Amino acid sequence: MSIQLEFTKEIEKNTAGIYQKIKSVVPEVEWPLHAPYIYKINELKKNKNAVILAHNYQTPEIYYGVADIIGDSLTLAIEAEKTKADIIIMAGVHFMAETAKIMSPNKKVLIPDINAGCSLAESITAEDVRKLKKKYPGLPVVTYVNTSAEVKAETDVCCTSANGVKVVESLGVKEVIFLPDIYLAKYVASQTKVKIISWHGKCMVHDQFTAEELNQLRKNYPDLIIVSHPECPPDVIQSSDFTGSTSGMIQYVRNKKPKNVFLVTECSMSDNVQVENPTTNFIRPCNLCPHMKKIQLPKIYDCLINETNEVLIDKSILKKARVPIERMIKIGRQSSLS
Ligand code: 13P
Ligand code: SF4
Repeated sequence: MSIQLEFTKEIEKNTAGIYQKIKSVVPEVEWPLHAPYIYKINELKKNKNAVILAHNYQTPEIYYGVADIIGDSLTLAIEAEKTKADIIIMAGVHFMAETAKIMSPNKKVLIPDINAGCSLAESITAEDVRKLKKKYPGLPVVTYVNTSAEVKAETDVCCTSANGVKVVESLGVKEVIFLPDIYLAKYVASQTKVKIISWHGKCMVHDQFTAEELNQLRKNYPDLIIVSHPECPPDVIQSSDFTGSTSGMIQYVRNKKPKNVFLVTECSMSDNVQVENPTTNFIRPCNLCPHMKKIQLPKIYDCLINETNEVLIDKSILKKARVPIERMIKIGRQSSLS
C-alpha cells in the first residue's frame, strides 16, 4: 500500500477546480488526503497513455477526480473497446475489468483491487450453466454481464440492466434461460411475454432494500420520487416511480429534477448525482457495495505506477466470451431512459 503523499501548495492549486465541483459531497478535511493522489494519478495517466473507466458507484473523488470515462456496465463495455489507450484501469469490479479485457484483448487491463468481486458473479459457475443447458436443451441462454468470463463463454447473448427486455425479445423465442439474477429475471419477466427460466443469484446490496422502508419514507416525504435499480426485490420495484440501470436512474433525475428523491441503489450514486443536481434533495438510507468500495485512490495509484493486478483471460475462453458481449452491444440500450 502507498504511503500518504504530501499535499503541497502546487497540488492544492492544481486540484482546486475539482474540489470546488465536489465540495458538497466530500468533506474539506478529507481533501488533503485525496488531492495528492488525484494529481499524481492524472500525471501518470498522461505519461503512460492510460485511461480510467469508472462505474457510477465509484466515490466522487474517483468519479470526478481521475476517471476519463464514467457510466453503467453497458457504457463501460462499449467504451473499453473504443479506447486508444495502452492501459485500461477499471475503477469497478472484477467482471467489469474482465469485460474490458474481452473487448480490448491487446490492451493491458488492470484492476486496483483483485478482490473486488460481485455477489451475482459469484452465484454461478460455467458448470452450472452447462447443466442448465442439458436440462433445457435448445433454449437460448441470456446472461447478465455481472458474471465471470467462463460463464459468458457458455452464453448466447449478454445483457445489462439497461437492455434485459430488449435482449430477451431480440431472440424471437417463447422461452429463455436468464442468469444469474433472480430479481432482474422477475423484472424482465414482468415486462415481456417471453417465459423466463431463472437462477437464484442476488445482489447483496439491492437485496437489503424493503418495500416497508420505502413506504415509511413516503410517509416522511409525501412528494418523494423513488428510483430503483432492477436488481432490487420485486416489491421494492413495484413501490418505485421509475426503475432503470444506474445510467437510466441518473438520466431520470437529470430530466425530472425531483425535489426529493431516493435512489434505491449503492450509496455513491447519490453523491455523484447530487454534484450535478444541486437543487434536488437526496434521501440516503442507501447501502454500500463492499466490492466497489475496495477501489480507492491509493490503490489506483499503486496499480498504475507498478502495473499490478493485470486481468488475464485464457485465450479460448476470451474468444467465446466475446461473442455474447458483441451481440449485446449490437442490440444496444432499451431506450435513452434505460
Ligand atoms: P449497471 O449496469 O446498471 O450500472 O449496474 C451494475 C451493477 O453492478 C449494479 O449493481
Ligand atoms: Fe455486484 Fe451488487 Fe456490488 Fe453491483 S452492487 S457489483 S451487483 S454486489
